[in-house]
Amino acid sequence: MNGLDGNTAVVTGAASGIGRESARRFAEEGANVVVADIDVTADRETVDLIEDAGGNATFAEVDVSDSKSVERMVDVAVDTYGSLDFAHNNAGILTGFSGVTDITDEQWERIIAINLKGIWTCMKAELPVMERQGGGAIVNTASEAGLVGMGGLSSYSASKHGVVGLTKSAALEYASRDIRINAIAPGPTKTNIQSGLLSGTGESSIPLLNRIGMAVDLVRMAIRTIRADYDTSAMRDVPMDRIAEPEEMAGAVAFLCSSDASYITGHTLPVDGGQAV
Ligand code: NAI
Repeated sequence: MNGLDGNTAVVTGAASGIGRESARRFAEEGANVVVADIDVTADRETVDLIEDAGGNATFAEVDVSDSKSVERMVDVAVDTYGSLDFAHNNAGILTGFSGVTDITDEQWERIIAINLKGIWTCMKAELPVMERQGGGAIVNTASEAGLVGMGGLSSYSASKHGVVGLTKSAALEYASRDIRINAIAPGPTKTNIQSGLLSGTGESSIPLLNRIGMAVDLVRMAIRTIRADYDTSAMRDVPMDRIAEPEEMAGAVAFLCSSDASYITGHTLPVDGGQAV
């Protein structure tokens, strides 16, 4: 894709799922990639995958909820490759289904700290470097839950609506400085987040009736399709009738960073099989 080759990208949450595929895609396009995650072991596996395929990657341990940690991540990019041209701020968590009145203070603060504050800490560290260089492009990972409400996932949905607003506002601030800032809103995608949610490993406290409804959806989808075990209720409202591959998110990120998207800023692109239509 135009404009990625030879430049440097940082990807957070790159140890697995969407972030791993985004990092691999940047490397395939010829970019140097800083593979950043809190999970050190899996993060190194992403670096190995990229290097085995002939790409350039380096590793950075980061906790996106901690500004100092994020500053060190950006330093890794500049110290190793001499620039920071693209950022995919993608790390995020989902703590499982919980009714509005059942979410604990700790759950609320954790999800906001990683999913929303974590996007701000990244942009806060990345933007001054891009400004000094004279340009750059940032893509933040929001979610379908950042565009519409989702019962049982209100803290997650609030954090992702926040990402959409933060993306718009930051884009306006930096539009005249040749730095484009966009977001993607993935629909249900085959990653650890989906499998953890639907296998019930998250803390669940939504009302019994709602859970029965979900179980019916699960069974309905299980009958309709024989796929991976996470390939179930989350796809019930997807017009394309399938769950996404993480590579499909990586393609959208690469496009938004490329010069093909040179007049696009402040937007959140749904990559959702038509779910938000
Ligand atoms: P994933 O669980 O495979 O990847 C998330 C990564 O973030 C993990 O590698 C994890 O170690 C890392 N991470 C968690 N907390 C961190 C922290 N404090 N600092 C640095 N890294 C941290 O899940 P997935 O699906 O790839 O998630 C990526 C993003 O996509 C998240 O922001 C998620 O909310 C979003 N998303 C995912 C959807 C899906 O269906 N999989 C749908 C919509 C949005």
